[in-house]
Amino acid sequence: MNVVVMILLILHFVGLASLLGGFLVQTKAIGRGKGTVVTAMVHGALTQLVTGVAMVGLIEMMGERDLDMAKIAVKLIVAVVITVLVFVFRKKDPAPSWALWLIGGLTLANIVIAVVWR
Ligand code: HEM
Repeated sequence: MNVVVMILLILHFVGLASLLGGFLVQTKAIGRGKGTVVTAMVHGALTQLVTGVAMVGLIEMMGERDLDMAKIAVKLIVAVVITVLVFVFRKKDPAPSWALWLIGGLTLANIVIAVVWR
């Protein structure tokens, strides 16, 4: 694997940790209807979009291997929905619990898609 793709993949994991971690530390508050979209979630969602798209561009440019574009398209749509949700609700205190559960659930869904769809 190209060293730049490697660095991007490491950052992709950091973004995932930020997005999912931001959600997980708040599950108790969300359960009480007092959850918020924390900055870590906003930065995490953006990191996933930027590093994901950059990896796709680089891997395609190098032409070393083929990516499954159906899988990438689904992951991109899910990530865009997550990003829209974090931006719409980032100034709301509390944010609606359904929106926070949806952000956490969609993040988990993208992890499952990344690992299971091969
Ligand atoms: C919440 C959003 C996302 C999550 C949780 C996520 C999760 C993951 C995980 C766990 C991996 C490592 C497993 C693997 O290599 O297959 C991965 C890799 C990857 N992801 Fe994502 N991802 C997200 C968004 C995106 C987006 C938006 C794109 C591109 C449009 C993308 C493109 C990629 C690519 C190209 C790889 C590397 C695959 C490879 O080297 O074969 N991801 N992602």
